Amino acid sequence: MSWIENILKDNNPETMEELITRADQVRRKFRGEAVYLRGLIEFTNYCQRNCYYCGLRRDNNAINRYRLSAKEIIDLALQANQMGFQSLALQSGENPDRKTVDFLVRVVSEIRELTTRDSSIGLGITLSVGELSYADYKRLYEAGGHRYLLRIETTDPQLFASIHPPSQTLEKRIECLKALKDIGYQVGTGIMVGLPGQTPDHLLADLQFFVDMDVDMIGMGPYIPHPQTPMGREPSASQVDPWVHTLKVMALTRILMPDINMVASTALQSLRPDGLKWGLRAGANVVMPILTPIKYREDYRLYADKKYKSFPQLKEEIEEAGFRLGLWQWGDSLRWAKRQQQSEDNKVAGHLQAEEAM
Ligand code: 5AD
Ligand code: SF4
Repeated sequence: MSWIENILKDNNPETMEELITRADQVRRKFRGEAVYLRGLIEFTNYCQRNCYYCGLRRDNNAINRYRLSAKEIIDLALQANQMGFQSLALQSGENPDRKTVDFLVRVVSEIRELTTRDSSIGLGITLSVGELSYADYKRLYEAGGHRYLLRIETTDPQLFASIHPPSQTLEKRIECLKALKDIGYQVGTGIMVGLPGQTPDHLLADLQFFVDMDVDMIGMGPYIPHPQTPMGREPSASQVDPWVHTLKVMALTRILMPDINMVASTALQSLRPDGLKWGLRAGANVVMPILTPIKYREDYRLYADKKYKSFPQLKEEIEEAGFRLGLWQWGDSLRWAKRQQQSEDNKVAGHLQAEEAM
């Protein structure tokens, strides 16, 4: 991967331009011009974890905690569906207790039931609710969740340990990703870029991890300090630039993994007003417009200055950047579809071999 290392360590602005042009070509060839939408519902900001970087951390007493009711979530889902969204992303802080998981299982199955009554494909459901047990992941899958986002944040054990309390481990995160894959989810992961102490070598290892794990979706964004967190209170320098390196790692990911889905994150859009356009050019083909009711949005601040763009504004920017909205379709990861096909083919081949042996 030495060419990648060179790109990550090179400060020449032309290197980034060339890289992004290549990523754009790869994305247009393998994934076309469509930008798929995941209507994002941040259904609760309660969180039992205490990540050192995130404004939702348990010990942050300076935010109002909220929880949407099942009806609120379902009504939002149905509205989104009417607007042409074919997929939702249900996201929250991490609450692995039985009551919350039971609640979510109910909500997911109801949304699936209500949106498939007319025998259509219904709303696709992406979940992003953190580390849960294998059994709970399976229940949510059986209820109708079919994609799951769980960022690894960084694959470097020391760096991971420096941004999380000791109870949260890299091993556990990897175990969860493997469980999700085993169950059959389309699995997404990703990192934060620009963490204190992060180096280009760390990013190189992260890219290798994405490839080795053969994930279906990637979501990455710049690290943005939040003043009410331990890391935000003591800012320290990073050897990687949150803007430049996020775009470089996105572009490299698209080149290395042409058929995955990749999101242009809200954090990237919050860092610079033209973040969406650059994210799309660097290979992103998914956008997650925020559908969380306005009265709760200020309370779902993972980082300072989180920006919210309306759906019409996002549409305009997507079209201005030379892409088009992929409405009324799930827009699944092609990587995942191919893997499914392979496993079907293997099953058939297995049957044929067994028959021949008889
Ligand atoms: N800056 C950028 N991204 C953050 N996240 C949490 N806190 C921050 C922050 N301060 C991201 C993490 C997490 C996702 C839900 O939000 O990557 O996985
Ligand atoms: Fe909770 Fe997720 Fe924020 Fe960590 S990153 S504090 S698990 S919401």
